[in-house]
Amino acid sequence: MSSSASWKTFLASQLKINIEQQGLSSTYTSLATVRPDGTPANRTVVFRGFAGEDHSSETGWQSDLLTTTSAIRSRKITDIATQPKIELNWFMPGTQEQFRIHGKCYIIEESNTDINLIDKELEEHITKKDINVEMNNDKNNLATRAFLTRLKNNKKKFDWENERLRQWYRMNDHLRGTFSSEPKSPLEINDMDNQGWFLNNDSKKQKLLEEGYKNFALLIIKVEFIDHVELITGTHSIFKKDDNNNWILKKLS
Ligand SMILES: Cc1cc2nc3c(=O)[nH]c(=O)nc-3n(C[C@H](O)[C@H](O)[C@H](O)COP(=O)(O)O)c2cc1C
Repeated sequence: MSSSASWKTFLASQLKINIEQQGLSSTYTSLATVRPDGTPANRTVVFRGFAGEDHSSETGWQSDLLTTTSAIRSRKITDIATQPKIELNWFMPGTQEQFRIHGKCYIIEESNTDINLIDKELEEHITKKDINVEMNNDKNNLATRAFLTRLKNNKKKFDWENERLRQWYRMNDHLRGTFSSEPKSPLEINDMDNQGWFLNNDSKKQKLLEEGYKNFALLIIKVEFIDHVELITGTHSIFKKDDNNNWILKKLS
């Protein structure tokens, strides 16, 4: 990971407190983009965790890259393809604090033409942990097992298509369904094949799953700076990088 991202530990621990107090709505954040005509656009998205990581299942990877998901036909995809600089505005009601996260957003979709550039720009942000991960560990969920299977087939090299697949497994059935041409029917993943590919026992649902997966994109956010406000204490700070590329916390008030 590029230096030690001090904001990551802080953000993760504040989020944990908020989820415990308020539930999963604490993962809702507003994603602001710029439309191709220069006007602002803003919508709610769900934070899906740090790329490569799963809070309950060990993947062997860690990153300081924020993940959310989108349908490829969605307008935000056009916005980001035109102007990748974005801002997340994340209010956490349990602890009464606001994170305004400024960064660059990368779209990971089926037909990534610029995947080499994405790999290069994100490479130092996603790293392998110094641990041995047991692939067939029963404690691992299906998403992690599929990820580790493909990783093994790919000579243990992290790749973004594998990460997109892992996040597809992690969606709930109802949400997965919304990506297909029958958005009201939930799509379960019953199992995986020996290549890590998702399977549904019903051939019609399998077709819808594969169709939905084509419409499914990851939005990966590389953080550039964070403006943080605590309402209770009135503290206003910025996490930013210094001239030596180390993250620092600067108190403004
Ligand atoms: C609570 C909540 C969570 C949402 N989460 C997501 C999400 O994770 N990804 C997403 O693309 N849209 C999500 N949406 C829908 C978006 O807010 C938005 O309506 C949709 O993505 C289309 O936006 P766009 O036209 O700007 O692309 C969510 C909406 C709500 C109310």
